[in-house]
Amino acid sequence: MNVTLKQAPTTPYTRILAMGAARGENAVPNDDLVGPIDSSDEWIRQRTGIATRTRANKETTAIDLSIAAANEAIATSGIDPSEVDLVIVATISNPRQSPSVSAIVADAIGATPAAAYDSNAACAGYCYGIAQADALIRTGAARYAVVIGAEKLSDIVDPTDRSISFLLGDGAGAAVLGPSDTPGVSVSQWGSDGSRADLVGMNHTLVEFRDGESEWPTLRQEGPSVFRWAVWEMAKVAKQALDDAGVAPEDLAAFVPHQANGRIIDEFAKQLGLPDSVKIARDIETTGNTSAASIPLATHRLLQEHPELSGGLSLQIGFGAGLVYAAQVVVLP
Ligand SMILES: CC(C)(COP(=O)(O)OP(=O)(O)OC[C@H]1O[C@@H](n2cnc3c(N)ncnc32)[C@H](O)[C@@H]1OP(=O)(O)O)[C@@H](O)C(=O)NCCC(=O)NCCS
Repeated sequence: MNVTLKQAPTTPYTRILAMGAARGENAVPNDDLVGPIDSSDEWIRQRTGIATRTRANKETTAIDLSIAAANEAIATSGIDPSEVDLVIVATISNPRQSPSVSAIVADAIGATPAAAYDSNAACAGYCYGIAQADALIRTGAARYAVVIGAEKLSDIVDPTDRSISFLLGDGAGAAVLGPSDTPGVSVSQWGSDGSRADLVGMNHTLVEFRDGESEWPTLRQEGPSVFRWAVWEMAKVAKQALDDAGVAPEDLAAFVPHQANGRIIDEFAKQLGLPDSVKIARDIETTGNTSAASIPLATHRLLQEHPELSGGLSLQIGFGAGLVYAAQVVVLP
């Protein structure tokens, strides 16, 4: 063989150019959910920091939410939708397993024939997507990528399950990434531990449901075990991501952890020794836990409420069913 395969031109760095967000249309207060789980507004506020969560109308899908979030991100970025050549949608709640959400979204936003695929890394899905888009743009496999975290978790909630039902919300957050002259996404700390797959995930398979052996499959978790894993193991991952990026806590403008539980967020902040100058995302109070959508939604809100954060460094960390996790430092658009 005397042919050398031609390679795409590489690019040294990428950055997030813009973000977009779409939440479920309805704010659902704790009082609407406490009946079937024998709980109270006070218990949920104290144990989770959630006051209301956003849930979508019956006819609204994760695809609709993704399109709205992506359209906003692209419009803000200033690129033309036809320049997008990669669309990654992180989701665990698409009720139709094929075709993918991403191919439909790519077409709806005017990005056909962009490469498009869905990725399942639960609450770490958005950070997995950022890691992938960054790597693919740098190697020349893509130039402009849209990374979306999108969930309609209300479709896979059992209102009588007190382990998780009251935590979950619906929404989609999107980021446009492209080439950059300076580093805008640090190396990712990402990984998995499938030996603990039983801690959080769906309680039944579709086959069990088909065969009449189970109810409609829904999410469940061993809350306290997931809580301990998040607080102890994930704080270490977040610290490692900072070290890998060469960033000290005081260099950060923002900290955007997965919006799983307000107490986990508080514990992270303590263990990382974040100074008061670092803005901490607390979108969970009114959006709830939206799995793959939670980090881009929370980042979008922080930027809306504090536009001065633009250009600053944000540490983001996602973790959840798998178990899987991913963390990186990004320059805020
Ligand atoms: C689910 C979660 C909020 C439960 O909070 P917790 O403080 O761990 O609560 P526990 O399960 O230890 O239960 C404490 C008490 O509250 C009660 N309780 C549990 N769930 C309750 C609910 N939904 N409403 C009211 N009381 C509840 C328990 O019965 C227990 O009562 P007892 O002390 O009389 O025995 C918490 O474990 C959590 O957020 N876990 C991690 C979630 C997460 O990060 N998920 C990531 C993947 S999405």
